[in-house]
Amino acid sequence: MLRFIHISDSHIEAGGSTNNSSVPEGGLQCDKACKNARELRSVIDAINVKISEGLSVDFLAHTGDICNSDDKKNDNGSSFRSAISIMDSCEIEKVYVNGNHDNLSYVTNVRDREFSRVGNKMEFEKYLTPELTGSYSARFDNYRILVLDARPQRVDFSAEVFSKNTSISSCSSPEPDGDQPADPAGYLLPTELNRIEELLDECKSQVVVFMHYPPVKLDCSWVDRNMCVSNGEQLHKIFAAHADKISGVFFGHVHHGIQAIVDNVLYVSSGAVSMQFDTSAHLQKHEISLDSGAKFSLVAIDKQRVIVKQYSIGCFETD
Ligand SMILES: [Fe+2]
Ligand SMILES: [Fe+2]
Repeated sequence: MLRFIHISDSHIEAGGSTNNSSVPEGGLQCDKACKNARELRSVIDAINVKISEGLSVDFLAHTGDICNSDDKKNDNGSSFRSAISIMDSCEIEKVYVNGNHDNLSYVTNVRDREFSRVGNKMEFEKYLTPELTGSYSARFDNYRILVLDARPQRVDFSAEVFSKNTSISSCSSPEPDGDQPADPAGYLLPTELNRIEELLDECKSQVVVFMHYPPVKLDCSWVDRNMCVSNGEQLHKIFAAHADKISGVFFGHVHHGIQAIVDNVLYVSSGAVSMQFDTSAHLQKHEISLDSGAKFSLVAIDKQRVIVKQYSIGCFETD
């Protein structure tokens, strides 16, 4: 049985400093200095307690918005280092996904560090496209791990490496809306969709997918309008055609724990580490949910079943 922790949307933000002088390299004493660090610390501590009590876990997957580094152009990586410093205190392997508030180069650096760590069982296989290094496949025991970076901004960075007839114009990121980031909707290139299909065609093992944006609509007005992969229907069709191989698609971004089965494909989001949003069907814009507490999930998978246990923990000030 494959067993992993799913967390998402920790949104660590170095406490408003305009430089990283208050955030030393390596270990941090930053729980008070960094927004949401206390919540992430509480989640990691809770996981560590379970592991110390005997829980066997294969890895931890963070499905993006690790920090707010890309919102703060003068962040210099300080919020990301804070987040990684806290997560490093949990010694199991990690899978990191690029979120719309993250900086891809930071995420790929720590991803590569995980792959090179002695004793880690996750084996990098290949990038979906060599030009866009946020999406890749890996192997873990008999499972194939597929990590998809659907952030549209990375397409802008890399558009010149694609042929002229590769259209990126269908990516319809909404304009910034209040405190919404500029790219709340995801997008996958046709090239990437083709590679996903090829990979699933030839794959003989069960596949676990990690991504930041939901590919399917989730019966909530503001989520369905703004937050999904804008060409997610195409991605879902590929998943649905290979539903027997896909154990689940695990995502974040919506700051709410949601489970959906669409055409026999299981989609599961983790509630956020930072704050929860209300995803009631009628809501036209995101609202902070009264459901407080930092969230994480424990997922167990084998050929017959997928079991998701969701946890909510209070966060307490410590001196
Ligand atoms: Fe988020
Ligand atoms: Fe997000």
